[in-house]
Amino acid sequence: MTAIADFITGLPKAELHLHIEGSLDPELAFDMAWRNGVQLGHPSIEALRAAYAFRNLQEFLDLYYQCMKVLRREQDFFDLTWAYLSKARDQGVRHAEIFFDPQAHTARGVTFDAVIEGIWAALRQAEAEWGLSSRLILCFLRHLDEASAFATLEESRPWRHCIAAVGLDSSEVGHPPSKFTRVFAKARAEGLPAVAHAGEEGPPAYVREALDLLQAVRIDHGNRALEDDDLVRRLVAAKIPLTVCPLSNLRLCVVDDLIHHPLKRMLDLGLMATVNSDDPAYFGGYVADNYLAVHKALGLGRGDLIRLARNSFEASFLDPAAKGRLMAEVDAYAAAWPVISPSGS
Ligand code: ADE
Ligand code: ZN
Repeated sequence: MTAIADFITGLPKAELHLHIEGSLDPELAFDMAWRNGVQLGHPSIEALRAAYAFRNLQEFLDLYYQCMKVLRREQDFFDLTWAYLSKARDQGVRHAEIFFDPQAHTARGVTFDAVIEGIWAALRQAEAEWGLSSRLILCFLRHLDEASAFATLEESRPWRHCIAAVGLDSSEVGHPPSKFTRVFAKARAEGLPAVAHAGEEGPPAYVREALDLLQAVRIDHGNRALEDDDLVRRLVAAKIPLTVCPLSNLRLCVVDDLIHHPLKRMLDLGLMATVNSDDPAYFGGYVADNYLAVHKALGLGRGDLIRLARNSFEASFLDPAAKGRLMAEVDAYAAAWPVISPSGS
């Protein structure tokens, strides 16, 4: 590894945009398919990996929902989450805020309990063994209707002590945040803050709706907010974090080349951008791989990388004392590293 890659790997960081089902890699998918007697749509690991060529979000989602059919039992959700946390830990993740899509499982007859008990047990074990803290964010699938989201919110009631926030994901265009205003109002009244995917493929108006109607405290992606100067000023003034996912944006053709990725522009505009992996099994890298990719493509320097790591804790749902402790760890880590030459070697 180059010095800069070592620096990035060890940099203490939080991951705030990670779909646990998107960390299902082909090897684990085939293991689970075999042990659960489920047929995957592709004959081999190689064939499945070869299908990872997406022209847009929907093409990815079609495969994502197909592969997650191998997740059937509590143990599967434990193993999936444990595998992610192990990789995240190796990439310097000290805190993870993890999305899960209960409707994608309950619709197949898997119980809400099996999903959350498996995920939750792995989260608790990672905190006990490694000090890797976490939060769980229940996402509503926006291509489904409001009634299904309400039913899911209700189903989560026995598990509210495990759920830090609600989110909104899946097919964006044609499913604006306004479709879920009432569900998010109910969740908020019950103490659950909101985050929402917006501005990945959808227009800046969807980012505005996420803020105004869902009262989102964080925007997932947010790339297209940059098309609207007033909206950018608002996001900067309100310090609304953006959970940006560079390799995802590349693989889903949100950007045509990483050298055109807006992350550097976001930072220069004063936005609280963070770097995350989204669905790392599908998009070619975990969180440190994303930092390294934007370092290479955009020339993000040591100061930018440190700022992104600090932002990741600042933008989290951690309490102020924990944020302060982890940001101080970032500063101490950076201070202990010799300044790296521009070549990164
Ligand atoms: N679900 C999993 N990954 C997603 C993404 N990048 N956008 C919207 N929904 C998703
Ligand atoms: Zn996402």
